[in-house]
Amino acid sequence: MIADVVVDLQYGDCGKGKVTHALCKDGDYTHVIRYNGGCNAGHTIYHNGRKVVTHHIPAGVFFGVKSIIGPGCVIEPDQFFSEIKQLEEIGINARDLVFVAKNTHVITKEHLREDQADSAIGTTKRGNGPAYRAKYGRTGQRAEEVAALKDFIIDIYEELHSNEEEVKILFEGAQGFGLDIDWGDYPYVTSSHCTTASALLNSVPPQAVRNIFGVAKMYETYVGAKAFQPDEDTIFDAIRDAGEEFGATTGRPRQCNWMSWDLLKKAININGVTELIVNKVDVLEKVGRWELLYEDEPVRFATGAAMKDWLMIFSKMLPTINNVTFSGKKDGI
Ligand code: IMP
Ligand code: MG
Repeated sequence: MIADVVVDLQYGDCGKGKVTHALCKDGDYTHVIRYNGGCNAGHTIYHNGRKVVTHHIPAGVFFGVKSIIGPGCVIEPDQFFSEIKQLEEIGINARDLVFVAKNTHVITKEHLREDQADSAIGTTKRGNGPAYRAKYGRTGQRAEEVAALKDFIIDIYEELHSNEEEVKILFEGAQGFGLDIDWGDYPYVTSSHCTTASALLNSVPPQAVRNIFGVAKMYETYVGAKAFQPDEDTIFDAIRDAGEEFGATTGRPRQCNWMSWDLLKKAININGVTELIVNKVDVLEKVGRWELLYEDEPVRFATGAAMKDWLMIFSKMLPTINNVTFSGKKDGI
């Protein structure tokens, strides 16, 4: 078994979708597996000239790869079926490609209602927190108990360990390190684990892990209730506009700040990132300012090239990093 992992190193929305797409297209994966989160994630894809937004279903489905919603996720059946329908409408045979692990937990109508009332955290109001609470409170419902999901249910252990051919998995993470339930800025976090470790919980032994693609952005964005964007400088509004930083799930404007090297370094170390991808370098080119925070102090660069050089040098000093790639919003990787 071989497993590559895509993991977000900041607060989500760093371009994991773009990276998983590129990898699915070129790699010879047998499975793509979502390992955390629910329909709080938003993933905008342009496929055959049509815009598709998926929340549950992993990117493998666009390239004919078996796509599994793993047991670390929570699933809302109505949302799931609306995505299946959307995919079928653009000619993707989602019914044959998409599977749900039988031990994945379900987001119920009651969970959705409860999360609608949240104002403390600024959740996506998709029922995530209540569903995970029910799971850990041992009062939850599993996907295998939902009659409508019957045709999609698999035993992920059987699927991965009883396969005749070699299994090659691409793990697709949701949210990001700064939102992780343990490592994020609690309580302003999501309810699942957003790290590489979480991918292994899908019955994958650690020895299977090959490449870990850590995805970051040249600046940070965050959506939620805590104050994040410094208000003394209008540059962050300019970054939001240039970067089109509005939530794919809720349409909320994302708060922006400079990249924190401290957060990025910690995320790289904890996730064991081997390939670092820094997206949206073109956005800072557009606004003409390049800064990051190092040990909480601002470091300013004269050019984008100087910031990239700095990041290249500091990243390569970390023990797990093999490659660093910079990418613009519209570039491939
Ligand atoms: P929840 O995951 O909906 O409970 O929301 C908890 C926090 O995570 C809130 O600040 C959300 O805005 C944030 N969040 C959840 N999913 C995403 C995502 O996919 N991208 C960015 N932020 C997210
Ligand atoms: Mg997103």
